[in-house]
Amino acid sequence: MRFEATVEECIVSEGEIPKDLAGGAYRVGPTWKRPTKQGNNPLLSMDGMVQGLVLREGRADFRNRWIRTPKYLLEEKHGHGMFEWTDAGFGDWRDHAYGDVKRDQYTSGVPQGTSNINIFPFAGELVASGEQGGPPIAVDPITLETKGIVPWSPKLSPGLHAPTAFGDNAFSAHPKWDHETGVLYGWTYRDTVPYVTLHVVHPDGVVDSRDLHDAPYNSVAHDIWLTPEWMVMPFQPFTVDKKRITEGKSGIWGWDEELPIVVALIPRNDIHGEIRWINTDLPAQYVMHTMSANVIDNVLSLDAPIFNRPPFPFPQDFALGEDVALFFSIAKSFLGRWSIDLATGATKSEQLSDRPSELPKVDERYYGKGYKFGFQVGGVVKRKGMSMNSLVVTNMDTLADQEYVIRTDQPAAVLEATFAPRLPDSPEGDGYIIVPVSWWADKRSEFQIFDTHDITKGPICRIDLPFMMGWTPHGHWMDFR
Ligand SMILES: [Fe+2]
Repeated sequence: MRFEATVEECIVSEGEIPKDLAGGAYRVGPTWKRPTKQGNNPLLSMDGMVQGLVLREGRADFRNRWIRTPKYLLEEKHGHGMFEWTDAGFGDWRDHAYGDVKRDQYTSGVPQGTSNINIFPFAGELVASGEQGGPPIAVDPITLETKGIVPWSPKLSPGLHAPTAFGDNAFSAHPKWDHETGVLYGWTYRDTVPYVTLHVVHPDGVVDSRDLHDAPYNSVAHDIWLTPEWMVMPFQPFTVDKKRITEGKSGIWGWDEELPIVVALIPRNDIHGEIRWINTDLPAQYVMHTMSANVIDNVLSLDAPIFNRPPFPFPQDFALGEDVALFFSIAKSFLGRWSIDLATGATKSEQLSDRPSELPKVDERYYGKGYKFGFQVGGVVKRKGMSMNSLVVTNMDTLADQEYVIRTDQPAAVLEATFAPRLPDSPEGDGYIIVPVSWWADKRSEFQIFDTHDITKGPICRIDLPFMMGWTPHGHWMDFR
């Protein structure tokens, strides 16, 4: 989706937009604006594009805008790509632009971040974030215009890259927050010691930080769980190391099944307090995105879609001589649970469903509180991977679930769902689920809104867009009420 659109008063082709909804469903994704100097478009090099569906008084307005990062502005001025990456010149699956930029006189002093992985509400702002590649950037919730790098970025820490300017730090793509206090729980990770730095950001911009000097190894720390007591950070054998690039053999990622899964329980109200490290004997498996967690009878349940392996290609895949397909074509995940007995530290892993699923979401007012309802995109097994086609709502107490199959015979991208509460004080999980769907064959897209009372009846309304929506990995709801 290489254009910016404004669609006011979107056509509602079926049903009605609930009049009590007021807020925006925002998403961000990597979008091809200009090829890199190397002539390609690796994932992390692509400029972030924010999409916003604002719902008010039964009407919907859609906008999408490029995020005007320092990189975007430099390249706009020159009219072509100005950046070159150490890991973008392989010409194959290893090109991700996770590595360092090869700096020259034009890019010196310009952060490489593209803010293209997630967007979330914080302290009345809408904040777009990337994956360890640059500072978070604030975006106006109505116009989607870029407001600029957040003022607290100088208090964060570098991710995988050395800062190239004051405040050129990093932040997680998947922070969690406390709805009551507004405190944001994030971190940065890198391939050198300290592998992780925690950042607890308060609504007034105060940032409390801690380096995890005893982190076991250089893991891709993409997501965490938040409980009433802890930030729960898993260290998994999906490793990140820029040395692999300079050794000339490989992209930045590795999958080392010999490494144990280690889980850190960090006291969230005092991140400088004692961390409990759980050295698990879990088999090599991979949680890319967390759902949420409960603590019942002194057992910590960490729920998530669990992959058999990360859905990214590794040198061992390439060595097999097979075509290397990306993402959900090479791995599959099923809703699962890691349980930690807090008395003994004993751990176990369970599979809770035989339906492939990913992109877990919850009622975010309950982040860090324990929860009952999980929302995911469901699918079917397809060769070594999975094909995503449905919305799934799971009651995590009973494991009963509801599914509505969105895509049947026509090709479409069924994207991550967003939950919006019916009213600001509605009980957990009571409200609406907004699912973006891009129909490729018809070159159109829509937002389907489901009522959580019963999603099996299908969407209560469909909001049409007369073009295909660009692919977006993540986003969140911002409530205006
Ligand atoms: Fe993610």
